[in-house]
Amino acid sequence: MSSSKTTLKKKLLIASDHGGFHLKKYLIEQRPDIEWIDLGPASDDRVDYPDFADLVAGRVNAGEDMGVLVCGSGQGMAIRANKYPQVRAALCWNEELAQLSRGHNNANILCLGERVIEKDMALKILDVFLSSEFEGGRHSDRVQKISQPVE
Ligand code: RB5
Repeated sequence: MSSSKTTLKKKLLIASDHGGFHLKKYLIEQRPDIEWIDLGPASDDRVDYPDFADLVAGRVNAGEDMGVLVCGSGQGMAIRANKYPQVRAALCWNEELAQLSRGHNNANILCLGERVIEKDMALKILDVFLSSEFEGGRHSDRVQKISQPVE
């Protein structure tokens, strides 16, 4: 099944830093079937990734469905986004990780690293992330525990 058939007009927040700017642009261009909410930046001028992680993570934390964050490695975005209690940001570099992050962790933000994966792999990861469902069951209590404050 082609990727455009698996996710019809899904709304998706997205942001990057300069290191992820071109992959962000590529994903938006390649998936016109998605209703992207691009929270910036508007160019590849140097910016600080936590500022852009905050834009997506803050909205997902407040109840919006899902987001994508792209930086050079994906790592800084994930680290910052996971400061928000209702965010489960997953750094994925293959399709299996994307599926597991949804199936087991109910991940709500996909983090990608422009400098560490090929563009076509990023598209595949995005497709799997969007088309995979949380499995619930034994994973539900564990996922609940993730948002509990640390003692
Ligand atoms: C920017 O040079 C780079 O540090 C950033 O894009 C990201 O990889 C951080 O985790």
